[in-house]
Amino acid sequence: MTRPLRIAPSLLSANFARLGDEVEAVIAAGADLIHFDVMDNHYVPNLTVGPLVCEAIKPHSSVPIDVHLMVRPVDALVPMFAQAGAGLISFHPEASEHVHRTIQLIRAQGCKAGLVLNPATPVHVLDHVLDELDLVLVMSVNPGFGGQAFIESMLPKIEAVRRRIEASGREVWLEVDGGVKAGNAGRIVAAGADTLVAGSAVFGAGPSQYRSAINALREAALQGEPA
Ligand code: DX5
Ligand code: ZN
Repeated sequence: MTRPLRIAPSLLSANFARLGDEVEAVIAAGADLIHFDVMDNHYVPNLTVGPLVCEAIKPHSSVPIDVHLMVRPVDALVPMFAQAGAGLISFHPEASEHVHRTIQLIRAQGCKAGLVLNPATPVHVLDHVLDELDLVLVMSVNPGFGGQAFIESMLPKIEAVRRRIEASGREVWLEVDGGVKAGNAGRIVAAGADTLVAGSAVFGAGPSQYRSAINALREAALQGEPA
């Protein structure tokens, strides 16, 4: 069975002085989602963008905006990002007092809900909430910065999450974020991922190379797809 494959360029590595153009350029180059990293200098040691910027890029995006919240607390920002045009909202369980409630809040706002597992977060945080989720995001670097190296020991973790999703019988996306390149995309997809976030691998190449960078990821990923 061939799984759908989605490529989600992370704006963290885009040119922030030209974000609307960057969004349009990666979509024209084949992006399936726009990954939008929100950092608060509290849950993670970096500070990025909020709902105002999401709202500003929304008219430039014909694909869903995939909001990755690296913030604590989470809940107050959920309606703000939903209003700003988010299609998916993911958060880290360590950052919410009541994980199940936050998931319900995201879905009540009409967005798909995702839970993010840091490299050291055990897979069992999915135990009682997988049936409520649309997406599981496995971090393959520690959150906070683009351009870090993929942590190889996340491959068996991706396999373990894929087994749980299969056992649930539901269609839950499995996204992997951090250090994804054409050189490892095949192994990541073979382990069970269907959605690849790529920041430096796409934007680092420069606008004239966005299409070839996305194509290289897609072709490498296809090598890893289950037959
Ligand atoms: C890291 C972010 C990632 C980051 C990925 O905290 O969540 O989305 O932008 O960047 P690369 O692909 O360069 O590792
Ligand atoms: Zn991210």
